[in-house]
Amino acid sequence: MSTIGEYIASHAEMLEAALIQSLPPQWNVPVSLRESMNYSLMAGGKRLRPILVLAAAEALGGSQAAALPAALAIEMVHTYSLVHDDLPAMDNDDYRRGKLTNHKVYGEAMAILAGDALLTHAFYSITQCHKVHGIPAERVLSITEELAAYAGARGMVGGQAADMLGEQGLTKLEELEYIHLHKTSDLIVFSLRAGAHIAGATTAQLAALTDFGNAIGLAFQIQDDILDIIGDEKKLGKPVKSDEKQQKVTYPYFIGLEASELKVKELTEQAKKALLQGGFANPERLLQLADYLMQRDH
Ligand code: IPE
Ligand code: IPE
Ligand code: MG
Ligand code: MG
Ligand code: MG
Repeated sequence: MSTIGEYIASHAEMLEAALIQSLPPQWNVPVSLRESMNYSLMAGGKRLRPILVLAAAEALGGSQAAALPAALAIEMVHTYSLVHDDLPAMDNDDYRRGKLTNHKVYGEAMAILAGDALLTHAFYSITQCHKVHGIPAERVLSITEELAAYAGARGMVGGQAADMLGEQGLTKLEELEYIHLHKTSDLIVFSLRAGAHIAGATTAQLAALTDFGNAIGLAFQIQDDILDIIGDEKKLGKPVKSDEKQQKVTYPYFIGLEASELKVKELTEQAKKALLQGGFANPERLLQLADYLMQRDH
């Protein structure tokens, strides 16, 4: 078996080759919109969420090829969320994935529109699981419904809104947990469930993946907040101290760095336990991914 590092690298490479072709070349799209979409889509990034889609399908013995359009879709939604997150009206950041942020290159209007188009195109991509790969329409309908829910007002956008509203007045750890679970865990939970739907998961398996995803998602955002303080800007490809600049209340702010690091470890253990309740044929890669994320420095 390859190492998890090799697994991530080879899957990321395959995903990037597919992402570059994801907006059909024959579509008549204004050149700067297409460029702006591709700029952020192809700027690098860990490709964690699409890898989770593929690994979840694999955990159930399902087809990774049939899961690919759903994997591309979540990377489009994630990328749009970053383009908008970096805008002056939100976190006002100049660097992302080691490059200037989208609005710094294409202007705010085109960055907003590229985000809009990436979000919309994600739903087109999901339909291809059925149209090209023959996954039963019922399953693809569930994935579509879940993308709308986990990415929208009750999901990632709701979390981002709470993050914006909470900046100064946040006083409780539970409020912060709500923000993290939605702005970050929800896209991760969606990714796992989408891969599982492709492979025809049972309700119990979907529930185990949801628990796993909520826990690694929370751990992932706490680690992001830790790295915002102690990380290396070059490795991260985005500015550190962004949270302090925006007066964000974070886990390290509330409970300190050491307790936050401990929390990341606890959540990872909790996640792995939850996953093992699902009775998956091949859970190894998901377990390894959880550990890998806990140790990440970017
Ligand atoms: C950044 O996500 C936004 C958060 C939810 C913390 P990633 O750390 O996965 O960013 P990329 O995709 O690797 O750039
Ligand atoms: C943003 O959290 C999460 C989403 C984009 C949904 P952050 O604002 O902490 O993400 P970074 O640090 O800019 O990547
Ligand atoms: Mg933000
Ligand atoms: Mg940000
Ligand atoms: Mg951050």
